This record gives sequence, C-alpha cells and structure tokens, in this order.
Amino acid sequence: MKVAVLGYGVVGVGVYEMLKKAEGLEPGPVLVRPGKADAPFKVTSIEQIVSDPTVGAVAEVMGGVSPAFEYAAAALKAGKHFVTSNKALVAAKGIELKALAEESGAAFLFSAACGGGVPFLHNLSIARKSDEIRSLGGILNGTTNYMLDAMQRLDMDYGQALADAQRLGYAEADPTADVSGLDALRKIMLACAVAYDVLPTEGLLNEGIENMTAADAAHMKSRGYTCRLLAQGGRNPDGSVYAFVEPVLFRAGAPECSVLENYNMAKYEGACAGSIVLMGQGAGRWPTASAVLRDLSCVLQGDRAMLQPGCKAGAADNSALSRLYYVRLPEAFAARLPSESCEAEDGLARLVTKPLSPAAMHAAAKEIRAAGGELFFAAIGG
Ligand SMILES: NC(=O)c1ccc[n+]([C@@H]2O[C@H](COP(=O)([O-])OP(=O)(O)OC[C@H]3O[C@@H](n4cnc5c(N)ncnc54)[C@H](OP(=O)(O)O)[C@@H]3O)[C@@H](O)[C@H]2O)c1
Repeated sequence: MKVAVLGYGVVGVGVYEMLKKAEGLEPGPVLVRPGKADAPFKVTSIEQIVSDPTVGAVAEVMGGVSPAFEYAAAALKAGKHFVTSNKALVAAKGIELKALAEESGAAFLFSAACGGGVPFLHNLSIARKSDEIRSLGGILNGTTNYMLDAMQRLDMDYGQALADAQRLGYAEADPTADVSGLDALRKIMLACAVAYDVLPTEGLLNEGIENMTAADAAHMKSRGYTCRLLAQGGRNPDGSVYAFVEPVLFRAGAPECSVLENYNMAKYEGACAGSIVLMGQGAGRWPTASAVLRDLSCVLQGDRAMLQPGCKAGAADNSALSRLYYVRLPEAFAARLPSESCEAEDGLARLVTKPLSPAAMHAAAKEIRAAGGELFFAAIGG
C-alpha cells in the first residue's frame, strides 16, 4: 500500500524513512508547504494526493486542527485510509472523522496520538472488546515527567528544569500545552473514546505543574513522596465517565516513581486482566513514527476503526471520586479548604485536605486563585 505523508517535520521524516523498509508498505508523495518542495517526492497541494489512485493511505503528521481536518476529510471522502499522530485533531474532530471513515469504509486509526511509541490505544482498542476497562491513564506527557524528575531527583528549580527540557528538545518553545496538562488531557480524552465510546469534551479538569516550586518539591521529598503528572479516566458507578489531569504524590515503591526522565507509563485496569502497565518512549521521531507504522500495518491486516460506531461526544463527571489532597497556599486562605492536618510557616500553609472529589478540589483552587491566592496542589496517591 502506498502511503502519502502530510508534513515532513520531526515525525514526518521518521514515517517516510520507515515506510521505505516496512513490509507491505511504501512511501508515496509527501505534502509540504508551498516553496518547500525541494525534492521530486514532495508535493504542495492535497489535491495531488487525494486524486492519486495509487495512494491507498494518508498519514497526517503536520499537527494542528486546521487544515489537518480538511485534509483528513478530503482523504477519507476519497476512500483513502487515514492514520494520524495528531491528538489535537482527534480530540477536536474525532467524532466527525469517525463518521466520514464509516461512510467511505476507510480506516481511521490514531494510536500515535497518545503515548508516542507506547502501544496504549492499540491495546485498549483490543482489550475493550472482551474485558471491562475499569480505569485508564498514567504518565502520558514526557516533557512534564522530565521536568518533575529534574526538580525532585536533581533538585533543579522550575525554570532550570524547563530550560533543560527545551535544550534537549523535549519541550517546545511555547511549553503551555505540556505544563498546563492540556496535552495529557487530550490524550486521556482519546483513551476514554476508545475504551468507553465517549469522547469527553465537557466537564474536563486539568491542573498542570506550572505552580510547583523548588520548595514544594523539597517539602514533598522530605515527606517521602514523588510527584508525577497523571492523566486519569474511568467509569463512575453510574456508568458516566471521569477524565482529568492533576499532579499526584506517590510513596517510594509505586511503579510511577520509577518512571524517570521523559518516559511515559500508560496503565489500564481490566476487570479480568487486572492492572496492565506499558512503559516506553512517549515522544520522539522514531518512537512516534513506529506507532504510525504500526497503525498502517494494522490497516493492511483489516483494522478499520479505533472508535466504535456508537462513540459520541459527552461530558465527564469528575465529582464521584474522592481522595486526599496536599495543598500549599497562603496561610490566609487555608480555612477555605477542609483539612485533616495543616502546618504553617512564614505566611504559607501546607495542608492535607479531608477527602474531596477532583471537581471540588479544582473548583476550590480556581476560587482561591481568583481571590489572589497562589497555590499548588497534588492528590495523594498510592
Ligand atoms: N514530535 C513528537 O515527539 C510527537 C509525538 C507524538 C505526537 N506528535 C504529533 O505529531 C504531529 C507532528 O509533530 P512534529 O513534532 O513532527 O511537528 P513538526 O516537527 O513541527 O512537523 C510538522 C511539519 O508539518 C508541516 N506542516 C504544518 N502545517 C502544514 C501545512 N498546512 N502544509 C504542509 N506542511 C505543514 C510543518 O512545516 P513548517 O515547519 O513549514 O511549519 C512541519 O514540517 C503533531 O500533531 C504532534 O502533536 C509528535
């Protein structure tokens, strides 16, 4: 099958090179921006790809929602299989792309969009057919894991950790999507859509790591905790879906503590399978390209969909779970949270809340910030 590639950047070059050696696949035209077609295999118009009868599949690795969506729609309408590494596209337009793929009978797969080289969505899409997936998620953003690890293990401050991540190519010039938790949130949206047939687009919560200071890292470390940014999804007892991202503290010995540098750890809990843990490179040229190629190989074997026909957009309900939270905030605001224990020094309080739902904790943090109180919080995990 000849595969056209949209975008020739970090991942695109990897996909093109891997296609040259992959069984049953070959590289086709590569879409680049006008003025950048400096080799015969590069083209500058999507029309040249969708009208080419020799192209069987399109791999989109450009990023962004538009024009990636319009190009994806054109490819699917022309009956080309469509594979993407673009989480922003699938989070925003996954349901529409699923419908277009169903109409044309073409494939729509996106395992590279969550977990990079880690075959998380691929495994979930198979496991969900025979097992009940009770919960899913994990450390799904390598940039923030690198920064958290540097702050806690190497005692860097936030600025140093970010600069280091940027120097190593893990963080983009604008790191907002990573450090705010938005990138991990988009990934958990996709995982919920694959496992539960609900793409949660409302009621989502994301707390990133931007508010963590070197003093927070040192304090948590002195209490024996390691902090990780966790994306979490699952089913509530009433059948609704929860989906949120927040920092979580783990005691030494928890598997999350052994996830160092920019590694990812994806997890799901099957009613029969129990806890399944997948670890590996969540980003980078070759790991991500390998996931795109895996999807293309699945297309050759007849796979057509990661989203089932009944999958719909819906709202997440993050009010049914309950956990304790570690919170650092100005002492003057401490009484706004129900606490089990509280230490105060130099105008700052560090407290452990009574059990709260993620919805309640995130709402309280929003209110305190709106009133001028800077705070950091993390759930107390395993
Ligand atoms: N890098 C990773 O480790 C990784 C991991 C998992 C998923 N992803 C996802 O994979 C996608 C690509 O990431 P990347 O790191 O490869 O990005 P990148 O290095 O910026 O490459 C994107 C390429 O697409 C090109 N492009 C963008 N819009 C285009 C358009 N309208 N027409 C033609 N070419 C266009 C860009 O050209 P210009 O340079 O001219 O703008 C660039 O060459 C993103 O959705 C990203 O989220 C990346």
